[in-house]
Amino acid sequence: MTEVLRVDPANPEKELIARAAECLRAGGLVAFPTETVYGLGAHALDRTAILRVFAAKERPANDPLIVHVAALDDAVPLLEDLPRVARDLAARFWPGPLTMVLMRSTLVPDEVTAGLRTVAIRVPSHPVARALLEGARIPVAAPSANLFSRPSPTRAAHVVADLNGRIDMIVDGGPTEVGLESTVIDLSGAVPTILRPGAIDLDALRQVLPDATSRQAAASDTAAMPSPGMLAKHYSPKTPVVLHQGDRATALGLMTRDAQRRVASGETVVLLSYAEDVSQLRDLGARIVELAAEASPAAVAARLYAAFRECDELGADVILVRSITTSHPLSGAIQDRLCRAAVLTPDT
Ligand code: TXA
Ligand code: MG
Repeated sequence: MTEVLRVDPANPEKELIARAAECLRAGGLVAFPTETVYGLGAHALDRTAILRVFAAKERPANDPLIVHVAALDDAVPLLEDLPRVARDLAARFWPGPLTMVLMRSTLVPDEVTAGLRTVAIRVPSHPVARALLEGARIPVAAPSANLFSRPSPTRAAHVVADLNGRIDMIVDGGPTEVGLESTVIDLSGAVPTILRPGAIDLDALRQVLPDATSRQAAASDTAAMPSPGMLAKHYSPKTPVVLHQGDRATALGLMTRDAQRRVASGETVVLLSYAEDVSQLRDLGARIVELAAEASPAAVAARLYAAFRECDELGADVILVRSITTSHPLSGAIQDRLCRAAVLTPDT
C-alpha cells in the first residue's frame, strides 16, 4: 500500500519529513511536491531503487531522470567538472525551476542517465522538497510522478490516481505552484541550449548566458534526440487534442466552427476554454472545461495538467483548445505543452 503523509507546504512537520527521508535512504519510492510538479523520488545512487522508478511509471529505460540535490555543492561529486556557466546559472536561478544537463562523473549509475555521458541536475525551491533533500542527505532521482502516458501531476490526488499501490509513500504538500515541468538547459555542448521550455525562459537565461539558444519544440519520436523524454506524445491527455492557432479572434472562430461541425456529426466534444472565451463557447452543445484567464498565463500554467485530466474523465471523442496569445515568460512553455498534446492538426 501507498502511505499518504499530509504536510504543511510552507513549514513541513519535521517528523513526517524524517520518515519520508528515511524511506528514500532505504531504497523506497517517495512522491513529493516541487514548485513545478510532483516528483517520484528514489535514491539516485541505488540501482535497484532506480529500476523500481521505471517499473512504477512504466517509463521506457531510454528516458533519463533528473537528479535533485539540496545545494550546488551536493552536485559536484556527480559531475566531471562544474563549468563556470553552471555556477553562474545556479547563482541566479537555484533553488528554482531550472535543470542543467552537464557531463557526469562515474558515481552516477547508467540507469539514471539512460547510458548518456551527461546527467540532468536540479535544486528545487519548494520547502517540502528542500526539507526532504536536506533530511535524506542523498541525491534523489525524481521524474514527474505520473504514469508514463499521463500528464505530470500537480496535486497529490493525481499521484494517487496514477501510482497508488506502486510506490511506498506520497508526501502531500498541496497543489504545486508553477504547474509545468522545469526548464531543461543542456550545458554539455558548445552552445547552451534549452531542451524543454519552462518557467525560466530564454530571455531570463540570456541575462546570464547571452549565447543561450532554444532547440524548438519540433521533437520527433526518435531515440536519437538529445532529450529522449521529449516525445511528441507526452504531457498529453488520452483524448485526442486539436489545437486551433492564430490570434484570438481567428482561433476562436475556427474553434467555434470546428465544435459546431463535430457536434452536428454526433461527436462528443470538450472545449478547453480560457475564462474570457467561456461566454462565446457556452451554447455550442459541447462540454466546457475552464482553464484560467488567458490574461493570467501563470494561472493557466498552474491549471493546465489538472484540466487535461478533467477533460479525460469526461470520456469525450475530442478536446478542442486554442493557442495562448498573451505574452509572459510562461507563455512559451504553455504553448509548447499545447503543441505536444495536440496530436491532431485541425482538418479545416
Ligand atoms: O520540473 C521537473 O523537472 C520535474 C520535477 C519533479 O523536478 N521533473 C521532471 O522529470 O519533469 P521528467 O523525468 O518527467 O523529465 C525529465 C526531462 C526529460 O525530458 C528527460 O529526457 C530530460 O529531462 N533529461 C534527463 N536527463 C537528461 C540528460 N542527461 N540529457 C538530456 N535530457 C535529459
Ligand atoms: Mg515527466
